[in-house]
Amino acid sequence: TLKIGSLCRAPSSFKSCINALFLCVSLFRLKDLEVAELGDSDVHVKMLAAPINPADINMIQGTYAIVSPLPAVGGNEGVGEVLEVGCRVAALKPGDRVIPAVTGLGTWRTRGVFPEETLLKVPGDIPVLSAATLSVNPCTAYRMLADFETLAPGDSVIQNAANSSVGQAVIQIAKASGIKTINVVRDRPDLPKLVERLMALGADHVITEEMLRKPEMKDIFKSIPKPRLALNCVGGKSTTEMLRHLQPKGTMVTYGGMAKQPVMVPVSAFIFRDVRLRGFWMTQWRKDHAEDQESLGSMMDTLCQLIRSGQLAAPACTEVPLQDYKAALEATMKPFVSSKQILLL
Ligand SMILES: NC(=O)c1ccc[n+]([C@@H]2O[C@H](COP(=O)([O-])OP(=O)(O)OC[C@H]3O[C@@H](n4cnc5c(N)ncnc54)[C@H](OP(=O)(O)O)[C@@H]3O)[C@@H](O)[C@H]2O)c1
Repeated sequence: TLKIGSLCRAPSSFKSCINALFLCVSLFRLKDLEVAELGDSDVHVKMLAAPINPADINMIQGTYAIVSPLPAVGGNEGVGEVLEVGCRVAALKPGDRVIPAVTGLGTWRTRGVFPEETLLKVPGDIPVLSAATLSVNPCTAYRMLADFETLAPGDSVIQNAANSSVGQAVIQIAKASGIKTINVVRDRPDLPKLVERLMALGADHVITEEMLRKPEMKDIFKSIPKPRLALNCVGGKSTTEMLRHLQPKGTMVTYGGMAKQPVMVPVSAFIFRDVRLRGFWMTQWRKDHAEDQESLGSMMDTLCQLIRSGQLAAPACTEVPLQDYKAALEATMKPFVSSKQILLL
């Protein structure tokens, strides 16, 4: 048998209700199930670790662009070890480490039987926590830095929710490429500790949302150029304030909506500065590049090399045994936790 985190979705009438978050968590169950039979093209995987990401919660809430047929197993990221492969499986063998190659795999489980094409092999020397958190957030950070503006060493990038897992990856990947980062976080009681942590990762500047409006922002741009790229994970007022500092003809990429508020753009930003607004979704990138093994391979090689060289660490995290999943789900939905919950399977 295997243990899986199985979920039922909240009724749609509850979606806009704050209690829905907690309702959804209470709808989540840990179940013992029979392991599916291994087909010729299938791979039997023992899962090792899997994070809880905001998108996993959105899937449970039914507010994500993809909703799995119910009952479903939660989790989109994670790492496992191959136990057994079907007779037609060519690229994987027992002992290999694998991560999801697709969205919606359902990684919060101890064992799983998956079609070969839904898995991606990762080198065995990548630490488990790094591998478990590799397939979504660092790939998103990498693509957003690479695909929207041509950035050279010395250029700068501004991002909000800079302490998110994506934000931490942006800081580290940018640092490794000589790109300066201006990192916006929400104010909090332990702000100096968070600033210190992000600076230790390689951040050039860490500021609060409130600081974005202050004249002192000019001091930052005495030593680094104004950003050509802004990465928006929040929406609402944060976006409007961040946009003030973007260079003319610069690009803002929206990839998250943590404030659950629309992006607000002053008319003047379009007319007088011709800013470009774009969006990014890793799931879509994977679909669009399904035949482009070179781009995928080159991204994964670069990220694994950064991990090996100590330039890309796993996000700050809390390791949680699977049976404590309720506490981990609740911690994921609390503000200012600054620690990715990783289920140990
Ligand atoms: N488009 C894509 O392909 C893609 C890929 C990966 C991730 N994402 C999205 O990126 C976002 C971050 O994911 P993650 O795994 O990196 O997150 P994470 O590590 O769990 O961190 C969540 C971040 O959101 C911030 N936050 C939470 N509620 C907020 C609010 N109301 N206003 C402002 N900030 C708030 C938190 O800041 P505090 O510390 O201040 O609470 C923290 O920085 C999510 O929305 C996720 O869905 C999108």
